[in-house]
This record gives sequence, C-alpha cells and structure tokens, in this order.
Amino acid sequence: MEKNTYGSFKLMIILSFLSYSFVGSDCATINIQYASALGDPGMKNDSLRVAIESWNQCNEVGEEAKNMGSPRMADCFDLDYSSLPVKINHKVDEVDNRLGVQNGTYGGINAGESADIYAAQKEIYLGNKCQVIDDPNPWQFWMIMLKNGNTDTLAAICPENGKKAKPFPPTGRFPCFGKGCMNMPSMHHKYTSIVDQEGLMSGSFYGTWDLDTDQEDDSVVGNNSYYKVKWEKKVGGNESWVFHHLLKTSSKYPWLMLYLRADASRGFSGGYHYDTRGMMKMVRSNPLFHF
Ligand SMILES: *[C@@H]1O[C@H](CO)[C@@H](O)[C@H](O)[C@H]1NC(C)=O
Ligand SMILES: *[C@@H]1O[C@H](CO)[C@@H](O)[C@H](O)[C@H]1NC(C)=O
Ligand SMILES: *[C@@H]1O[C@H](CO)[C@@H](O)[C@H](O)[C@H]1NC(C)=O
Ligand SMILES: *[C@@H]1O[C@H](CO)[C@@H](O)[C@H](O)[C@H]1NC(C)=O
Repeated sequence: MEKNTYGSFKLMIILSFLSYSFVGSDCATINIQYASALGDPGMKNDSLRVAIESWNQCNEVGEEAKNMGSPRMADCFDLDYSSLPVKINHKVDEVDNRLGVQNGTYGGINAGESADIYAAQKEIYLGNKCQVIDDPNPWQFWMIMLKNGNTDTLAAICPENGKKAKPFPPTGRFPCFGKGCMNMPSMHHKYTSIVDQEGLMSGSFYGTWDLDTDQEDDSVVGNNSYYKVKWEKKVGGNESWVFHHLLKTSSKYPWLMLYLRADASRGFSGGYHYDTRGMMKMVRSNPLFHF
C-alpha cells in the first residue's frame, strides 16, 4: 500500500494461501499436491508471529527516533490452553523491543555505532525469539513494513551499495521539508491480549513520523502523519487473523508506505542487502511454483 496524497484509508486484508503445485512425473496419473511455502498459511493459528520494521527512502534507518530504540519490534506468542481462561505467553518483551544502538552488545548484537547494522541484527535477534521449527525450514514472523519516502538529497545519508553517496541538488522527485526529513516514526505497541468476554484477541503497533506531536495513546493527532496496524482473532475460532491497516500522510510527510510482507525466513529478501527473517520457509525453486 502506498499513498502520496492527503487523507487516510483503512483496509482489511485476509491473506490467501500461497502455494505451489507439484505435478507427478507420470502424466497419465497427474497427482497434484499442494504444500504451502509459508509458515502458518491462511493465518489460522491462534498463536501469532508478527513484527514491524521501518526504513527511510534508501532502505536504511539512518538515525533512531528518540526513545524508540531501533525500529524493529515483534509481537510473538503461543497460547496456553491448559487452564481457563487461556493464557497468552509472549516471547518478546519490552526490554527486547526497545533495544537500540545505545544498548551496545546486549543480546549478542554487534553493530558498533551503526543504527543501520543494529536494526538488521535486531531483526535476527527477534527472529530467534519468535522462530517456529517447521519442515523443511523454520520461520519467524509476518513483517509490517513502514517507509518514509522523504529524501534529503543534500545530506547524502543513503549509502549506495555500501559506499558513501554524494550529495545532489533536490530534484522534485523526492519530497523533503529540510534537515531531519528522513526520520523514523514513533513506534508504540499494544501487546496482543484478550480484549473481551468472547475471547477476542487483539494487538497493535501505531505511531507518527511527526515526532514533535507524538502521543502514546493511539489517537490520530490533528493533521499528523499516522499509521496503525491492528490484528484480531477469536481464540479457537476457525477464521483467520484479520489485519486492519491505517496510514495517513501529513504536509511534512506526503509520501509514506505501509506493507504487510511475507519475507524470506533467511537470506536476502525484497531487494534488501541484509539477512532477513520472515514467513517464506521455501524458496521459489520449483518451476511449477504459482502464486
Ligand atoms: C500453532 O503454532 C504453534 C507455534 O506457535 C505450533 O506449536 C502449533 O503446532 C500450531 N498449530 C497448528 C494447528 O498449526
Ligand atoms: C537499553 O538502553 C536504554 C537507554 O539507555 C535503557 O533504558 C535500557 O535499560 C537498555 N536496555 C538494556 C537491556 O540494557
Ligand atoms: C488541519 O488542516 C486543515 C486544512 O489545512 C486546517 O483547516 C486545520 O486547522 C488543521 N488542523 C489542525 C489541528 O492543525
Ligand atoms: C474450518 O474451516 C475450513 C475451511 O473453511 C473447513 O474445511 C473446516 O471444516 C472448518 N473446521 C471447523 C472445525 O469448523
């Protein structure tokens, strides 16, 4: 989802199965079997794995937003049905989610002073906490992706393929209100919990790029930019998790992006040069692979 005008939208996504077909070698008895390349195909498992990441226009972090830590967080839990009411056992806590470059080597992260490298390593750290063992490979989480389309061409803070880039005059192709226009958003988090008598589970991530008017409560403030991703499912229900996405631009942030991604569970994905974690437990190697 991408939006570059004012306003907001709300979208309900129900993810469909991603599968590939296998056709037997004997054409006379074509035997089609389906196996999902995704962990938790159809999002039907009560136990959910979801994470959030944020990028600037050059697919880096640049600088962390104040008091937010590195912009990689996760909400991963298993349900314990052994007693009533059922219990939600979270695998990632606030100490993990708020880790940032100033936390140095805590958790085995080794990124030096680089907020970019820190975020990539934090994703792997969170992935290890969320990982589900599966065949043929483990998987970790769905990924909510945020991106700020502003580009400060004069600051030249985007490395180009790992090398330092040169500044260039603003082209009009990319918006920027001035210094700091490529900032990361605030990231507030409501951990998944049971929110009603019927056993409805719900959780969310939300925030704004307009950090001077950031608010911890989850309301949209004035003409601020804003995002919110909220997920819901009834315990034991046969339906899928439902994700609600809200994205609103502002005059300072006219180009914002919000996606829900199924990244590769290891190796590079979606054009990033970092090792990622995600839901795709198989790579597309079968020639008969279909989406
Ligand atoms: C649901 O996910 C948990 C791990 O989070 C796994 O142990 C369990 O087997 C899954 N259930 C189903 C029906 O896939
Ligand atoms: C990480 O750094 C922040 C800010 O200095 C601090 O509040 C927090 O306790 C640190 N976390 C850990 C696990 O040391
Ligand atoms: C939001 O923008 C509209 C249109 O520009 C303006 O009329 C309104 O006063 C603004 N509201 C706030 C709270 O700044
Ligand atoms: C759950 O839904 C699937 C697909 O709609 C259906 O085949 C299955 O019988 C349902 N299971 C239960 C326990 O209702």
